[in-house]
Amino acid sequence: MLDKKTIKRVLSGIRATGRLHLGNYLGAIKGMIELQNNPDYETFYMVADAHTITTPFSVDELRQNRKEIIIDYLAAGLDPKKSTLFIQSQVSEHFELSFYFSSVTTIARMMHLPTYKEKVKQYPKHNTMALLNYPILMAADILLYKADLVPVGIDQEPHLEVAREIARKMNQIYKTSFPQPQRFATKGEYIPSLTGEGKMSKSIEGSYINLTDSLDKIRKKIRKVPTATIAGGPITGGIKTLFILSEIFLPKKTYEEFKEKYHSQTLKFVELKDTLAEAIYQELKPFQEKRKQIASNLTYVEKIIKEGAQKAKTVAQETLKEVKEKMGLS
Ligand code: TYM
Repeated sequence: MLDKKTIKRVLSGIRATGRLHLGNYLGAIKGMIELQNNPDYETFYMVADAHTITTPFSVDELRQNRKEIIIDYLAAGLDPKKSTLFIQSQVSEHFELSFYFSSVTTIARMMHLPTYKEKVKQYPKHNTMALLNYPILMAADILLYKADLVPVGIDQEPHLEVAREIARKMNQIYKTSFPQPQRFATKGEYIPSLTGEGKMSKSIEGSYINLTDSLDKIRKKIRKVPTATIAGGPITGGIKTLFILSEIFLPKKTYEEFKEKYHSQTLKFVELKDTLAEAIYQELKPFQEKRKQIASNLTYVEKIIKEGAQKAKTVAQETLKEVKEKMGLS
C-alpha cells in the first residue's frame, strides 16, 4: 500500500498526432521514465487524444495513433507494473473537471497565451472553443490526479502556470486541496529544429528525427542541417542544433574534441554529423526493436489500455467527488 503522505504523484501526456520525435523523447519521455523508476513517485501517463482534436485531424489517424503512443510508451521503457498508462478520453472525469475549472478562468487569460496565439496563426480557420480550452483541459488532466510533478518540455511552462493559477483559485474559493504542480525538467527540455530555427516540431517539415527513423534516414536528415562552410565563430543556427544534440548523445570527451576542433577551425562538419547520426541511432535501436515486438502483440496492448483506464478512473472519481461536494454540486 502506498503511503499517501510521502508518495507524490506525477502526470504527463502526449498528443496522438503521429510518430514521436526526438524532442518528445528527450523533453518528456526521458523524464517520465526517470520518475517512474523513483519509488517516491506514483506515475500516471496518458495519451492526450482529446487534446488532439483541438487542431485539424483525421479520424482514422487519430483512432490508430492513440494505440501507437501507448506502444511508444511501452517500447521506450514505461512499465505498466510501475506506471498507470491510459487514454485520456476513456476517463471522462477529465472533461467534467475541465468544465468546472472553466468557471474560474477568464476568456482574456486564455486568449493571451502564446501557445494559443501560435495555433491560431497556424490554423486561422480553426479558432475553436476547444483550442481556447486546451490549457483548462490540461489543468484538469494534472489536477484530477493531484499531481505535484509534470515531466514536459519547456514549451509547456505557460500551460503549467495556468494549472497553478486554477489550483490556487479553486483552493481559495472552494477550499479544495489541489497542489501547485511543477514542471520536471530534463537535460533535453528544449530540442532545437534541424533547420536551425526554432524548436523541433512535428508540424515543421525537416525539423525532426522520428524515433522510428533508420540509420540511413537519420544520417540524411543530420547531413542537411545547415552549417557554415568554414568552422569557427559564434555557435548559432544549425551549428547550435548539432552541438546541443552532440552534448546529449556523444561521450563528453568526443563532444569536447569536436567543439575544440570547431573553435580552432579544423572541424569537418561531415565527420561531426555522421558521428552524431550514428550515436542517435544507437540510442534509438533498442527502442525500435522493442517497438516491433510490442506492436505484434496487440492483445497485450489492449489489456494495458483497459487496466490503465480502470486504475486512472478510481483516482479521478475520488477527486471529482471532492470538487462536486465543495462546489455545491452534490
Ligand atoms: P505534445 O504532444 O505537443 O508534446 C509532447 C511532449 O513533448 C515535448 N516536446 C519537446 N520537448 C523538448 N524539445 C522539443 N522540441 C519538444 N517538442 C515537444 C512537449 O513539451 C511535451 O512534453 N500539452 C501537451 C500534452 C498534454 C499534457 C497534459 C502534458 C495534455 N495534457 C497534461 C502534461 C500534462 C503537449 O503539448 O503535448
